[in-house]
Amino acid sequence: MDFSSTFEASTSLPAVAARRYAALPRPSLQFTEEVAAKTAPQWEKMKSVVPSVEWPFFAPYIAAINDLKVVRNAVILAHNYQTPEIFHGVADIVGDSLQLALEATRVKADVIVQCGVHFMAETSKILSPSKTVLIPDMRAGCSLATSITAQDIRAMKAMYPGVPVVTYVNTTAEVKAESDICVTSSNAVKIVESLGVDRVIFLPDQYLAKWVASQSKVKIIAWKGACEVHERFTGAELRAFRDADPSVKIIAHPECPPDVIAEADFTGSTAAMIDWTKKLGRGRVVMVTECSMADNVAAEAPDIEFVRPCNLCPHMKRITLPKILDCLLEMKHEVEIDPVIIERARLPIDRMIAVK
Ligand code: 13P
Ligand code: SF4
Repeated sequence: MDFSSTFEASTSLPAVAARRYAALPRPSLQFTEEVAAKTAPQWEKMKSVVPSVEWPFFAPYIAAINDLKVVRNAVILAHNYQTPEIFHGVADIVGDSLQLALEATRVKADVIVQCGVHFMAETSKILSPSKTVLIPDMRAGCSLATSITAQDIRAMKAMYPGVPVVTYVNTTAEVKAESDICVTSSNAVKIVESLGVDRVIFLPDQYLAKWVASQSKVKIIAWKGACEVHERFTGAELRAFRDADPSVKIIAHPECPPDVIAEADFTGSTAAMIDWTKKLGRGRVVMVTECSMADNVAAEAPDIEFVRPCNLCPHMKRITLPKILDCLLEMKHEVEIDPVIIERARLPIDRMIAVK
């Protein structure tokens, strides 16, 4: 697909430039021999997890998106919960929230397309304010991010003066701007302990807070937020899996309730769960998290048999190949944040990154 004749040439897109860029014409999206040949490496990676009947639909989008990334000088950052055709087909960088945030500080491209949820796109914008950050669907939210406001944090700080506010990255930029330090699920315990205090306000995930409390002597003052995906798992359903096969390994995300984590052989961030599974190499694994992740790992760990107590994140699933294509064709939807909030929200994220 050749977009060059209609592209308004530029090697450097300044931020907030999307509106100045002409929309490009839609490619034909036919599954031709040329498209099949061009997407053969991606098909090779995901053919064990994507039904072959779906490939003629996905392949033209993958080819067009990968061409457009070059034209727009764009990079796609995709969270581990994205579906295989995005994760293996068009993403340049994949990872958990921490890895994606770190990568956002290193991106050289002019445009970041965030295939994940809105708070992740905001984090990229905060860390790379001069870049154009696009999200394929603005409605891709998060039940944790909507569970707390900046006003709620100010009220907590008034209630517990002097107690540091430790905020999960699954929050809005405004909430981060009121916080002392951010955490992700992969560094929460380390960061809480690094502060050298005997108690912290830890927001907004009540279950992540409980898990951190179980790993540390620091007293945790929690909020009542929860992930709508992970709170649905139960210890009883995991015991049923283990009763059916005592050799099964159960690995859980720390956003799960305590009775679920009590059944787990390993608890960690999405990236840590992937590493653990790949190191295991073979066997049967119950992956207690959003279910696209097991598909993504299955493509790379053929000797693992996954049991998927499948809970989908409706927000992550708003991101699709057709929307990514539209995003690059029309340079939409741009994530914009008040520069004052960017400056204040950057501080707690930088403090998090600085903790080695
Ligand atoms: P990770 O940082 O572990 O990828 O978690 C992000 C998330 O939204 C989990 O639901
Ligand atoms: Fe938010 Fe849960 Fe979806 Fe992660 S899985 S984005 S925490 S709702």
